This record gives sequence, structure tokens and C-alpha cells, in this order.
Amino acid sequence: MQIKFEWTPDISVGNEEIDDQHKKLLNKINELLEAIFNEKEKEVIGDTISFLGQYIKNHLVYEENYMKENMYPDLMGHQEIHQNFVDKYEEFETRFRENGTSDNMLHEVEAFLGDWWVRHIAIEDKKYFIFINENK
Ligand SMILES: [Fe+2]
Ligand SMILES: [Fe+2]
Repeated sequence: MQIKFEWTPDISVGNEEIDDQHKKLLNKINELLEAIFNEKEKEVIGDTISFLGQYIKNHLVYEENYMKENMYPDLMGHQEIHQNFVDKYEEFETRFRENGTSDNMLHEVEAFLGDWWVRHIAIEDKKYFIFINENK
């Protein structure tokens, strides 16, 4: 299976550390897709899901602190989007623990995780990038 989600410079948020985290995040999503595609053992897929969940949480905290430090005015709105995502991810993880992979899980991960993240970085994260850039 070829690489599915790729970080490109047009979704840079102007902060090297955050860009790196976004790159790793997309790579981890690709790994998860690959593990599901190759029908790896439940344990392997479960480990990837847990790792990704933790990685995402750490990223969100880091990013929220960055927005706070830079006095981004819509921090609350952005935090809410993050929280909704975390809730959905937890629901996804629970479903996996209970039922394992289902036929449409590959598609779900593509849409819910991959597409969601690319869009979030390109649209929502881009907003703080523009604000910080204009208020330097
Ligand atoms: Fe982000
Ligand atoms: Fe974000």
C-alpha cells in the first residue's frame, strides 16, 4: 500500500516543532492504515491506535499552549474542535477494543482520521498561523 497522507509545505503553520508533529501524526495514520490493510493482529493494531491517541493528545496540548502564548483570540473555539476530536477518537478506540476491525474500518480511518487531520491543519491550524504571522 502506498503512502496515503503526506505533509506538504503548503500546510506549514510556521513553527518547526508543530510542523514536525503534524508530519509524524500523518505518518502514524499511514501506519495504522497499513496495519489494518495488511490485517495485522488485533494487538498490533490496538497498540498503534493507543500510541496515535497519546501522540495526538500531546500534540493538541502543545498546540494549545502555543496559541495561548501567542494570544490567539479564538483559542476557545479551536480547543473545542480539538476536544470533539478527542471524544470521537475515544469512541472509535472503544469500538475497536470491543469489536476489533470491521469491513469499513479502513475507510473510516481514512475519512475520520486522515482526511480530518489534513483538513484541520490546512484550515483551522492555518488560522492561528495567519494571526501570529500578522501580529509579529
Ligand atoms: Fe495541529
Ligand atoms: Fe489544531
